Amino acid sequence: MTRIVGATAEGIAEAAAALLAGKLVAFPTETVYGLGALATSDAAVARIFAAKERPANNPLILHVADAELARRFAVFDRRANDLAAAFWPGPMTLVLPLRKDRGVAVTATTGLDTVAVRVPRHPVAMALLRLVAAPVAAPSANRSGRVSPTSADHVMADLADRIDLVLDGGRVDLGIESTVIDLSRKGQALLLRPGGLTRAALEAVIGRLAGDRSQADGPVRSPGLLARHYAPRTPLRLDAETVEPDEVLLAFGPDPPGGGMATLNLSPSGDLEEAARNLYAMLRELDAIGARRIAIMRLPRAGLGEAIADRLNRAAQR
Ligand code: TXA
Ligand code: MG
Repeated sequence: MTRIVGATAEGIAEAAAALLAGKLVAFPTETVYGLGALATSDAAVARIFAAKERPANNPLILHVADAELARRFAVFDRRANDLAAAFWPGPMTLVLPLRKDRGVAVTATTGLDTVAVRVPRHPVAMALLRLVAAPVAAPSANRSGRVSPTSADHVMADLADRIDLVLDGGRVDLGIESTVIDLSRKGQALLLRPGGLTRAALEAVIGRLAGDRSQADGPVRSPGLLARHYAPRTPLRLDAETVEPDEVLLAFGPDPPGGGMATLNLSPSGDLEEAARNLYAMLRELDAIGARRIAIMRLPRAGLGEAIADRLNRAAQR
């Protein structure tokens, strides 16, 4: 049985105790809900992979209450320090060289010599991480490959009875995952996953980022970014300008086309922050209608639009 507890002081204390006892706890962050386990325990981390049916070669992000704790197991260079000072707590994950023998479970990093780390800024996540006072490994709290959860209900829909506890902190406010930057190679800053912190904000601090995920050439830098992901069961049709009668529409902006079985609008006023916040919940809702396809209007690519486009492109892969 999965227990759902409110994000009160007692709820957060219960969640911290459960994590320290090796249990699986879903908790809110400002981006999406995470599925947490104590990152120093191989047994606990292994349960994350089982519950999500996550491929064993896809490493996890370690969540910590502050950069201080992260420095115990990850090597921060000047760029990492600058970014941490500018954007933590916040929706930014740094991939850094791992300090071996500092107790991070090999299951969490999948044996890589790097580690992904983030300080979330959600008040519930921060309170929880302060109580645990150890790194908490947490992927998004959904079944592998599926749409990320932005509410406790979404977590339950995917993982009920596979996890011990859900800390219910209501709907998250950003709605899209953190931006992942790989700084593990000297002189190179690689954007592995666009996310809640924009490219422009990052580049204002450390200068130009190397373009993309570069999966095609060389060794795989981020295994989790390869495959189809973030996907509803219903097929997607991107850049739709019209809707067919057996489709549902995910719209954006003031004048969506008429027709179709149903329409949800990510942001009638054309606001990308509002669109990011609504994206996953609306995809889940449209998925449940049982249409032949979900038609999705084109959104601007600037700012948060880069991360939204990234998720939709991955979700549309068959
Ligand atoms: O906003 C977020 O980042 C959420 C919340 C819960 O913090 N977490 C999240 O985790 O999205 P997940 O596991 O769904 O995505 C983490 C991504 C994966 O694509 C993984 O491959 C990549 O980070 N990653 C983790 N460790 C890595 C490493 N050492 N090197 C390269 N990529 C890594
Ligand atoms: Mg995920």
